[in-house]
Amino acid sequence: MAFTDGTADFRSDTVTRPTEAMRQAMANAEVGDDVYRDDPTVNALEEKAAAAVGMQRALFTPSGTMANQIGIHLHTRPGDGVICVPSAHVRKYELGSAAAISGTTFLVVESPDGSMTAAALDTALDPNGPYYNIRPGLLTWENTHNASGGTILSPEVMAKGSAIASERGIPVHLDGARIWNAAAGAGVEVEEWSQHATSMMFCFSKGLGAPIGSMLCGTADFIEEARRVRKRLGGGMRQVGVLAAAAAVAFDERDRLVEDHLLARRLGEGIAARHPDAVDLGRVQTNMVRVDGAGLPAGAARFKDDLVAAGILVGFAAQDVLRFVTHRDVNAADVDRVLAVLDSA
Ligand SMILES: Cc1ncc(COP(=O)(O)O)c(C=O)c1O
Repeated sequence: MAFTDGTADFRSDTVTRPTEAMRQAMANAEVGDDVYRDDPTVNALEEKAAAAVGMQRALFTPSGTMANQIGIHLHTRPGDGVICVPSAHVRKYELGSAAAISGTTFLVVESPDGSMTAAALDTALDPNGPYYNIRPGLLTWENTHNASGGTILSPEVMAKGSAIASERGIPVHLDGARIWNAAAGAGVEVEEWSQHATSMMFCFSKGLGAPIGSMLCGTADFIEEARRVRKRLGGGMRQVGVLAAAAAVAFDERDRLVEDHLLARRLGEGIAARHPDAVDLGRVQTNMVRVDGAGLPAGAARFKDDLVAAGILVGFAAQDVLRFVTHRDVNAADVDRVLAVLDSA
């Protein structure tokens, strides 16, 4: 259900409201106490998710952050280094959870986006360093990569880097909060990436459009342990089939993500046609568009103010850089309203 007051909200794909079909599914969901594993709706969704990503088992969690942090906790020991790019969500946007919960630190591999080259990982994962080096405990990837504008990680890059980790006995976790956008954008199956990961998580509450919920996926043994850690973190939920029911509807409709990508393209191309230096169209690969204020006549803050005056919401991705995210509650008319604001400035 889109906004009824005419607001067009491009701040994130997390702002969507549950559709009528989701609300119906929630109302009619068969439920039980999921801590006793008695919730048939949750059990069915976990089975479906594990099969869809080609892993043995899956665990429903309240958030992507919790799923990522359970993964980090189970794969590492205190003092270990978690390898990631500097702008990885697990490092920059999870409030230091990896340190607070698991006692880990980060080993960053420089990268302009979410990819890490085999050469860089070969060095970062060096098993022969001196004894006082931080022990690399886990390699993490993020796909799509949020901070660089929803860009898609190349399966080949992931395969090469993950192979280096696996050869050295280091597990690999994939933060696939928007992995279904990556699959839709690249036109490939999620297994192209998940086959190179020991564990992965994805979110129902982002582009898929469900109100709440994420899935942690991995081997049966890993998920059994994950269930214990989830409970320890306070994430053991009871009749949570009411949420899984909405997530299931969103999941079954995941083919519609291409529509969001077409909207992002329309927006990116529309802005670039007016201000070519404001948008790097090469980065518009899924449902995000970054707009660089340096390429606009009056900068990003002024553009944002003009948008707000026209009932359009957008957020900053960085200083003087706006991020527009398309999702099921915005449409082509909303995109054209953004372009009209540029034309009337
Ligand atoms: C790439 C990525 N990973 C993880 C998360 C965390 O998900 P949640 O907000 O459900 O904790 C987000 C949230 O935006 C994200 O973009």
